[in-house]
Amino acid sequence: MASNTETILVHEGQQFNSTAAVTAPIFQTSTYIADSDPAEYTKAATEAKHPYFYHRHGNPTNSQVAAVVAKLEKTEDAIVFATGMAAISTAILAIVKSGDHIVAQLAHYSGTTIFFKEFLSDYGITVTAVDQTDSAAFVQAIQENTKLIYIETPSNPNLNITDLHAIAELAKKQNILSMVDNTFASPINQTPRDFGIDIVVHSATKYLGGHSDLTAGIVCGSQDYIAKVWKRSVALGASLAPMDSWLLLRGLKTLSLRVRQINENALALANYLSQHPKIKKVSYPGLTSHPQHQLAARQMRGFSGMICIEVDGKDEEQAFNNAQALINNLTIFINAASLGGVESLVVHPASMWGGHHTKAQKEASGITLGMLRISVGIENSEDLIADLKQALEQLS
Ligand SMILES: Cc1ncc(COP(=O)(O)O)c(C=O)c1O
Repeated sequence: MASNTETILVHEGQQFNSTAAVTAPIFQTSTYIADSDPAEYTKAATEAKHPYFYHRHGNPTNSQVAAVVAKLEKTEDAIVFATGMAAISTAILAIVKSGDHIVAQLAHYSGTTIFFKEFLSDYGITVTAVDQTDSAAFVQAIQENTKLIYIETPSNPNLNITDLHAIAELAKKQNILSMVDNTFASPINQTPRDFGIDIVVHSATKYLGGHSDLTAGIVCGSQDYIAKVWKRSVALGASLAPMDSWLLLRGLKTLSLRVRQINENALALANYLSQHPKIKKVSYPGLTSHPQHQLAARQMRGFSGMICIEVDGKDEEQAFNNAQALINNLTIFINAASLGGVESLVVHPASMWGGHHTKAQKEASGITLGMLRISVGIENSEDLIADLKQALEQLS
């Protein structure tokens, strides 16, 4: 099998399509006819991710998707889930138990932050959150009972970068595991295994699926570790449904084309916005003005489609109102949560997470009142810039 990304995306995992159909069929079934050989049937019932036993254990399309993403992420194996949060929580629960400690970041996707703060603490697992831009802070946070360093880079929503090489080295030295949420970069732009990170997780709802029509998650790691994750997944039960798995497989085929276009569009938009007088700040790792641009350029092949901007205003209240007005003035960008699809989306993090995060949490993760998070799609970049221009012109 060829080892180039575009070919992997189209052809990897074909062995799981047991039919003569060129496109894998949807295996819309909950269960499979038992093998008449009892030994084979026992194997099907107990083997990790067996694709022909019962849906919560495995499904052929789930195996095919996992094979594609494991190959891209350069891990031995992978397992899919119903959502990114199911993947992240199950992946973590396969490592830590009561009495253990995790080192994480101040800024994570909010669902992950909630899982750390409100759930793991109830089960006797402690989490220390550090400034991800400071590699020394991770070293200082390590305790005797630390089992995992969990990072997200670029981080949601403020696009800070964590040094993958430094984290992987630290984890190896301490004999603990490292895990990265690679959702924002996608495996087209960043391969954490190249730097020695052990485990990669994704919300496949985003770039991997790419069409805002499914939710899914994936965990990539060693075969032994994925077998452990599978065992938890059978107990916790968040298996990816056949239709969503099929959509994800189809979306993956164009991942490379989509992400290349998105990278190009996002850089054009970030450049435009950074010169606009009504925009106070543009955070995009591809801009030389990003404080961690050098680090981003060392560990990313492209800078993805996520841009964080701060709309100007004479005070916080006006910045909040201007950010909301800008969203309302846009005609192509859609105001919606989520990211990574073919269509450009924009969201106001302070409104979205106002209910979940305390003021202190918002400050810690860098969320300001005038901040907007943009997920750039594959539309024509001149049209996107023209839309931003007219929307900004309408601001007072
Ligand atoms: C970086 C990141 N990780 C994980 C998730 C959770 O994914 P899901 O919504 O598929 O559960 C999200 C969702 O927005 C995300 O942005």
